[in-house]
Amino acid sequence: MQTFRQLDPLRRAVDALRCDGPIALVPTMGALHEGHLALVREAKARAAHVAVSIFVNPRQFGANEDLAAYPRQLERDAALIEAEGAALLWAPASEAMYPAGYATNIAVAGVSEGLCGAARPGHFDGVATVVCKLFNQVRPDFALFGEKDWQQLAVIRRMACDLDLTLPHVDAIIGIPTVREADGLAMSSRNAYLTPQERAQAAALPRAMQTAILELKAGAPVHGTLTALREALLAAGFVSVDYAELCDAESLVPLTTLPERPARLLVAARIGKARLIDNMAV
Ligand code: PAF
Repeated sequence: MQTFRQLDPLRRAVDALRCDGPIALVPTMGALHEGHLALVREAKARAAHVAVSIFVNPRQFGANEDLAAYPRQLERDAALIEAEGAALLWAPASEAMYPAGYATNIAVAGVSEGLCGAARPGHFDGVATVVCKLFNQVRPDFALFGEKDWQQLAVIRRMACDLDLTLPHVDAIIGIPTVREADGLAMSSRNAYLTPQERAQAAALPRAMQTAILELKAGAPVHGTLTALREALLAAGFVSVDYAELCDAESLVPLTTLPERPARLLVAARIGKARLIDNMAV
């Protein structure tokens, strides 16, 4: 596996690889877990070459968020993706991503605005901006993202469509189902912030969501079901619930009744030092 921290050698390497078959990109911020490795495996099954990016993107962290504390373990991560057969690791130095004088921001209206966008102003501008840069840097044939960050996936799809970022494959932005621990908790680098007690309590999140989905499907009213979901999380040890919403799966517009179209239940809740998010199809 080749590792690059500067853009020019990265570009030469991807040009050489491309002559020999399609390239799939798996963008990450590192602290890799089984969920990321599932993306790398899926990428490997679909493309001749897999490029993984690891960049803790300062532009998607708010002033009071965990940028400094975010786990950084580049050597361990590099060994993990090499063992999965990745051909290339793009781990840009901060100045390679945002050189002096950098001044451009991408803001995606609509899908960015509710849910995590409301709780974390500017977060999705940072995501859209860095992912657009990663696409232009690596120029992959397609890219894979975890469905755990459902809103992020919707923002990236909107941005790529609006900016005519024509990745060569049809459906080039591929969402991969969330990988879960044995008790149902969605895998996340931020689970590392939980104490053993909080970790045990956190399993209430997927359980409460599944209960809510069963109730919605049985005809329970949306508002009351979401209120009961919030109360169940607080009773289980979560300190607050940022949101618990039923939304249209694509536009993320909040819904007050269960529609014919695909819908998604999305939740963000805080426990200990962690803010956990999850989403499920309804
Ligand atoms: O999901 C993530 O890890 C990040 O938001 C991403 C897509 C790599 C952009 O920094």
